[in-house]
Amino acid sequence: MAEPATATEHYNVPNALDPAFAPIRELGLEPYIAELEHYGYTIIPPELVAPPDFVARMRDAVLRVARERTGVEHALDRNGDVGVYETYPVQADRYLLYYMLFEDEVFEEWLENPVLAAVIDYILRGQAHLSSLISFVKWRDGNASPGDPATFLHSDAQGSPEGVLPATHSLVCNAALCLTDYTLEDGCIAMVPGSHRLCRVPGPGEGEGRAVPVEGPTGSLVAWLGNTWHGAFPKLTDGLRLNVTSYFCHPALKTQERYKEAVPPEMLARRSARFRRLMGVDDPMGWKEHGPDGELFIKLAARQTVKDEDTLRANSRR
Ligand SMILES: [Fe+2]
Repeated sequence: MAEPATATEHYNVPNALDPAFAPIRELGLEPYIAELEHYGYTIIPPELVAPPDFVARMRDAVLRVARERTGVEHALDRNGDVGVYETYPVQADRYLLYYMLFEDEVFEEWLENPVLAAVIDYILRGQAHLSSLISFVKWRDGNASPGDPATFLHSDAQGSPEGVLPATHSLVCNAALCLTDYTLEDGCIAMVPGSHRLCRVPGPGEGEGRAVPVEGPTGSLVAWLGNTWHGAFPKLTDGLRLNVTSYFCHPALKTQERYKEAVPPEMLARRSARFRRLMGVDDPMGWKEHGPDGELFIKLAARQTVKDEDTLRANSRR
């Protein structure tokens, strides 16, 4: 009698699995996807994500942009100051640096990172558009004490007017690359494990008692589903906590930041077909009296990424 086939043997059977799972398998990310599915978030260790010199380049770029926008020199071992940067929101211990993609080539390279790509394409099934690329700059909260709860718990997904969230799939997802060590004392991200299964947004203060610190060394990648309740613990130490948060959405949703019209052709030329899809430049919506661009519309219907011009032409003749 034949031995039963194993899932491992089925891996190479054509069409036997979601193609978005293949890169997960090839990069050894299955344990992190299991955590993501079960708890609603995962922490991928630095050695799997990117070399230390890449993380250092990104951190240097963030510190440079912070200085340019605020007029204030930023250093990891000092608390921050928003200076002259007109932005929203600005809180006593933090502010956000928006629209980082066009500030330095290191951010383009980050979007091409294989681990980030595999996780995001798994969650959004290869359809993601980049919604925003933001650095959170955070320093000591002078009013906080050890044991204070996590604050600002929320879901990144937008609920119905009643706060109901999708139960079967994510329409958005998020991933924060830690540019400094993330510890409870240093004000790390807080997650409410399993909260993604509730399929609703939290009420005021709800979940604070169940939020856990998401700790990891510099270079860790924290990824979470759109439904997952999260926030942050107050920073109790001097110096900066930095990250770059890469937020993605289904193509049916509006992006937070403006990429489709703003991405330079030379940037698209030096990047992958996947990068082009992340920028949403082939989104056919927004047509006028002549209707949609047929080639782009066919591509959208087929849920295919444009690999090259030949692929696009071939699709349009079907
Ligand atoms: Fe969030």
